[in-house]
Amino acid sequence: MSAIDTLEEPSTLGQGPHDDSPLEMAELRRYRRGDASPDTDLLAAERQGQRVVVRWANGDTGEFPQMWLRDHCACAECRHPMTRERLYKLMDDPLWARLAEQDGLTRIDIEADRLVLVWADGHVSRFDAGWLHQRRPGQALASLLPPARAWRERFQPERVDYTEFTESDAGRAQWVTAVLRDGLALLDDGPRELETVSRIAERIGPMRSTNFGGRFDVQSKPNPNNAAFTAIGLELHTDLPNWRQPPDIQLLYCLENAAEGGESSFTDGFAAAEALRERAPKAFEILAHTPIDFRFQDEGHDIAVHEPIIDLDADGHPREIRFNNWIRDTLSLPADQMEAWYAAYREFWQELRDPARRVELSLAPGQMVAFDNRRVLHGRNAFDPNTGKRHLQGLYLDRDMLESHLRVLSR
Ligand code: OGA
Ligand code: ZN
Ligand code: ZN
Repeated sequence: MSAIDTLEEPSTLGQGPHDDSPLEMAELRRYRRGDASPDTDLLAAERQGQRVVVRWANGDTGEFPQMWLRDHCACAECRHPMTRERLYKLMDDPLWARLAEQDGLTRIDIEADRLVLVWADGHVSRFDAGWLHQRRPGQALASLLPPARAWRERFQPERVDYTEFTESDAGRAQWVTAVLRDGLALLDDGPRELETVSRIAERIGPMRSTNFGGRFDVQSKPNPNNAAFTAIGLELHTDLPNWRQPPDIQLLYCLENAAEGGESSFTDGFAAAEALRERAPKAFEILAHTPIDFRFQDEGHDIAVHEPIIDLDADGHPREIRFNNWIRDTLSLPADQMEAWYAAYREFWQELRDPARRVELSLAPGQMVAFDNRRVLHGRNAFDPNTGKRHLQGLYLDRDMLESHLRVLSR
């Protein structure tokens, strides 16, 4: 089949340069012109060496390697039309050598505001103008997620009404956005019914189970295997830092809170870590670069990791805080590092307890708190079980499911 024959089909596509029907790019994120990306009519496309340079009406240009374009062909042969997953394998393509050189393409056209490419083996690829614009090299695809925002003085968590959450996309988007951005959000005025927390979670994704099971009850119990199941106060902590991957998002739904005490507190661990870096940089470095041991043990489990208190990402920003003084294991360091480590730990504790960054609240029956357990520390005051009942139901969710929910809502 000659390259010219294969052009017959693309040249009949669309009704002209202002046809608005989107070209199927095996992509569910919005990319249509005038929708996600205004003024992205295609003006020109030409080969320059091994690349195709594309120009849009808004003046933006993109320089696409031939390899990239071939790799991203969205036709039904190259992308599975149902799963949208890639079928094409650039690694095995006999055209590879020609893609690496200059002659992988026999034709470059703009038709009906689509880039149409005919490859040297006769294969035809078509690209939607807006889709290509969103993905021009060197330009990160805009995130649909809110960036983390550090708590400032007098930070108050966002509150979303339970009915808004259950009945409207906007309510759920508001709640998910707040949890991802601030690491803490409240849901108000829910029913005082057992398992409401499970129904809330179902709207977002499957719960993450741990050695404490799936959905757990926080109330004082006989024979507790965890401080949370007593009436004692819990100092600020993160849950399960002894796991390789501690749970991301914790939901705690209040059913009863009639006992004296039991107030909740929260602090932004990332903001505290940044404050420590500012005030005591040496202490920060020690906590960020000294792995220590965390461990939980009961009759059936012994779950342990060796990780630092402050975990940093590739850019040096805090990515995760592991802080839980009662399941910190034996400190196993050379003696001449111990004093400095304890001093750093104590300095961080002072930042974590800074009242300026602390949120305190008393959960009301029907109220739920959600927080990012890998960033925000939580605690509760001791309560007196003889003065009334306190009962929370909790579970964990994966952050991926919250992010996914927000992306889906933005389609
Ligand atoms: C926990 C916990 C807080 C509370 O279960 O890990 O911290 O308010 N509970 O009881
Ligand atoms: Zn293809
Ligand atoms: Zn906890």
